[in-house]
Amino acid sequence: MSDFRIGQGWDVHRIAPGRKLILGGVPIPSDFGLEGHSDADILSHAITDALLGAAALGDIGMHFPDSDPRWKDADSQTFLRHARDLVAEKGYEIANVDSTVILERPKLKDFRPAICEKLAQALGVNPDQVSVKFKTAEKVGPVGEGRSAEAQALVTLCLRH
Ligand code: C5P
Ligand code: MG
Repeated sequence: MSDFRIGQGWDVHRIAPGRKLILGGVPIPSDFGLEGHSDADILSHAITDALLGAAALGDIGMHFPDSDPRWKDADSQTFLRHARDLVAEKGYEIANVDSTVILERPKLKDFRPAICEKLAQALGVNPDQVSVKFKTAEKVGPVGEGRSAEAQALVTLCLRH
């Protein structure tokens, strides 16, 4: 068995007025949020899928179906912690997480330390093992036109010795 595994995750949610904007478990002051069955935290969802992908454990919808009332307005940190536990049960530890949130506004860079800290807590790693980057879509396409937001993530796991 290989000592290292890589996983990739991606998520998109529609922008919706009157919803909270939560990224990596951190509430972001904003006049809009993201639509979704859970708290619609795209960043946590992308990282959850990357973790599950790295360990070949399916995807977020398989573990937390959005048809299940238990996950209505769920805190996505629950998904992250569950995925963390599943990869640990398979004998892996998280080496690092790298991620990107693509959202036209608001500016997110001031929230980077808080988001990395919160994600690190959920994942049981140090904040310097977690990277979060932000990009606009340069006003092009659904993200650029302010209709949706996306997140992408990569996770590296290594076998515990
Ligand atoms: O998309 P663009 O290349 O113009 O982004 C430039 C920088 O602006 C990014 O590197 C990031 O630090 C910051 N940014 C941000 N919040 C966003 C989008 C970008 O803080 N919603
Ligand atoms: Mg999602």
